[in-house]
Amino acid sequence: MKNKIIYTILIFLTITKFSNASDGYDLWLGYHKINNASLKTNYKKIFSSIYLKDVQKNATIKLIKKELTWASKLMIEAAPLFTTDSNNASILFRIDEQNKDINEEGYGIKAWTKNSKNGVVVYAKNEVGLLYGCFALLRAMQMQEDLKTINTISSPTLKIRMLNHWDNINRTIERGYAGNSIFNWHTLPDYIDKRYIDYARANASIGINGTVVTNVNANALFLTPEYLLKVKALADAFRPFGIKIYLTARFSAPIEIGNLKTADPLDSAVIKWWADKAKEIYDLIPDFGGFLVKANSEGQPGPQNYDRTHADGANMMAAAVAPFKGIVIWRAFVYSNETPEDRVKQAYNEFKPLDGKFSKNVLVQIKNGPLDFQPREPFHPLFGAMPKTPEVLEFQITQEYLGQSTHLVYEAPMFKEILESNINATQKVVDVLEHSNNELTGISGVANIGSDINWCGHPVGQANWYAFGRLAWNPHLNANEIAKEWIQQTWSHDEKVIDTIQQIMMASYENMVKYMTPLGLHHIMGNGHHYGPMPWGNTLNREDWNPVYYHKSDSYGVGFNRSISGSNAIAQYDPFVQNKWKDSSTCDEKFLLWFHHISWKHKMKNGNPFWDELCYQYNEGVNGVRKMQKQWQSISMHIDEDQHHQVKQLLQIQLNDAIWWRDACLQYFQTFSKLPLPKGYPLPAHDLKYYQSLNFPFAPGNGK
Ligand code: GCU
Repeated sequence: MKNKIIYTILIFLTITKFSNASDGYDLWLGYHKINNASLKTNYKKIFSSIYLKDVQKNATIKLIKKELTWASKLMIEAAPLFTTDSNNASILFRIDEQNKDINEEGYGIKAWTKNSKNGVVVYAKNEVGLLYGCFALLRAMQMQEDLKTINTISSPTLKIRMLNHWDNINRTIERGYAGNSIFNWHTLPDYIDKRYIDYARANASIGINGTVVTNVNANALFLTPEYLLKVKALADAFRPFGIKIYLTARFSAPIEIGNLKTADPLDSAVIKWWADKAKEIYDLIPDFGGFLVKANSEGQPGPQNYDRTHADGANMMAAAVAPFKGIVIWRAFVYSNETPEDRVKQAYNEFKPLDGKFSKNVLVQIKNGPLDFQPREPFHPLFGAMPKTPEVLEFQITQEYLGQSTHLVYEAPMFKEILESNINATQKVVDVLEHSNNELTGISGVANIGSDINWCGHPVGQANWYAFGRLAWNPHLNANEIAKEWIQQTWSHDEKVIDTIQQIMMASYENMVKYMTPLGLHHIMGNGHHYGPMPWGNTLNREDWNPVYYHKSDSYGVGFNRSISGSNAIAQYDPFVQNKWKDSSTCDEKFLLWFHHISWKHKMKNGNPFWDELCYQYNEGVNGVRKMQKQWQSISMHIDEDQHHQVKQLLQIQLNDAIWWRDACLQYFQTFSKLPLPKGYPLPAHDLKYYQSLNFPFAPGNGK
C-alpha cells in the first residue's frame, strides 16, 4: 500500500514536471499568458464577441476559429465567444474582395471605437488572407500591442514563399540535423500524422504558401501512382492553410518508371509521358504547385545528357504543367569538373545565355551565393543578370555549413545581407526578386525541419524557420525585430530575457563566420558531412570539392584570385560592384580571400598585418561564443530550466568546436605563413597532426 502511494506521488510529480516544461514543440505558437492586467482586460473584452462567417462551410475559417480559441484560452485564460451578429461583434473578420489596399494574399487589421466600445476588423480578399490576418492579430497580442490603436496593412510582395525539403523516401534527410523526415510515406495516405497539421499551421502563421516535400536529388518513385496518392493526402491536409504542394521531378523518370528508352526532352514519347503525368497529378491534386528540378548537377540526370539545354528541359516540363497553371522551378546550381573553370563562375556562364529562352511558367532558382551556402558568400552574380527570366532566391535554412543543429546561429542577418546587396548602383537583390518582369516571383528556403520534438534540433534553430518565413512575406523587415518577435512569442515576455537572447542571436552569425571562415575564406570544412574544419583536404577525386582548391595557400599567401589577373569571376558582376571588390587594397575585407590571393604580410585597413588579423578574427569568433555563454547564463533563472540547460550544453559544444576551428585552421595556415601567433594569443591544445587525424564517419545529414 505504502509503495503504491509513493508510486502515485512519483507519477504525479513526473507529470507535473513534464507538463510545466516547454519542449519546443509549440514553436512560436505557444501563446504565453498575458500578465499585463489592463491589456488582458481589453483583450478579454474584444474576444467576447467574434464574428466569423461560414465556419461550417469553409475549412480555413474553421482553422481561424480553432486558432482564436486556442490562443485566447492560453493568453487570456478565457474561451472566446463567437457571434452571428456582425453589427455587434468586437472582432469582425470580413472578406473584402474589392479592397484596393491589399493584394490577393494580403490582410488588414484596423481598430475601431464606437460608443466607448472598441474592437478590430480583420479584412482580406479571401479566407487564407483572413487566416494570415488572424495570425498577425495573435502575433500583435503576443507582442503586447494595444489593440485600441492597431492599424496594419500587409501584403506579401513575393508570390511563391516556399520551403524545400531535402527529404528522402526512406525518411532520411539530406543535410537534415533534426531527426527523420516528418513525412512518413509508409503510413500515408491513410494516416495523417498530427505533425502535418502542426507543420502547416506553423507555416501559415508566417505566410509560407508552398512546400516541396521531396529531395532535389530526386527519386522517380514519387511520381508513381502509389506515391502520388500519398502526396495527394498531404496536399489535402495543407490546402486549408493556403499551402500548395510541389514535387521534385527526376529528369530520367520516363526511363525509370515509364519504360521509355530515353528522357530526351525533344522526344515526342517523352513529351507525351510528362504531359500524361501532369494530367494524372492534377486529376488528384487540382492545385498542385509544380516541379522543382535539379538537372545536370552533381550527377543528376538532365537535358544535357541528350545535348539539349537547360531551357529545352525546363520548357518541356513547363508545357506539361501549363494547362493546369503549374510552374517549373529550375535550379541554377550547376557545375562540372569537366569544365576547367572556376566553379563559382559556371552557373552564370551556363544560364545567362539562356535568358529569354525559358517559357513563361519557368522560374530559375538561384542559391544566395555562387558556391554553395558557405558561412559567407557574396551574392550570386546571376541576380539581375537574366532580366527576362523570373528569378527565385534559394536560402539554406538547414545549417549544413553553419554548425548544423549544434551551433546557435541566427541566420536572418545573413539573409538580410544578401537581400540588401546592391547588384548595381540602383538595385538590390530584393528589387530583382520583387520586380520580376512577369507574374512570377518567389523565394525558397531549404528546410531545417525534422522529427525532433522541437522540430529543428537546436532550440534556437526554429528562429531560422521563423525568420525565413517572415522575410519571405516581407523581405524589408529587420533581422533584429524578427528576433524580438520570435523570442517574445517563444520564450518569454520578460524584458531581460528578450534583450539577452536578442543580443546573443544578433551576434551569432558574425561570430560563426569569424571562427569558421573569416575574411572571405570558404569551403574549408570536413569532407562529405561538412562538419568541422579540414582546410588541408585534398583527397577527393574532384578538384573543386577539395578545400585546397578554394584557399590556395602557399608561401606567399592565401585566397582565391578571382580578380582580372585570376579567374576573373569578378567580371560577372556589374562595374558598380566590381569597384568594391576588384582591388585587394580596397576590397571589402569580409570578401578579401574570396576575390584575392593575399600576402601573409598584406596590410589590412586597420593597419594589422594580414596574418595577425587572421589570428585575431579566429580568436574573436571564439571569444564571441564565450560571451554568448555568459549572456545565456545570466538568464538561467528566468526561463524554462530544461530549455536553458539544452542550449547551455550546446553552447559548450559550440565553444569547443570554435576552438577546434581556430586551432586547426591557424596551425594549418601557419605551415605556409611560417609566422608566429601574435603575442598573447592562446596556444593550441593539440598539434596539427591530431586535428588531421580526426574523422567522423557517422556525422549526420549525409543520408541517402
Ligand atoms: C550541397 C549539398 C548537397 C545538395 C546540393 C544541392 O552541395 O551538400 O547535399 O544536394 O547542395 O543544393 O543540390
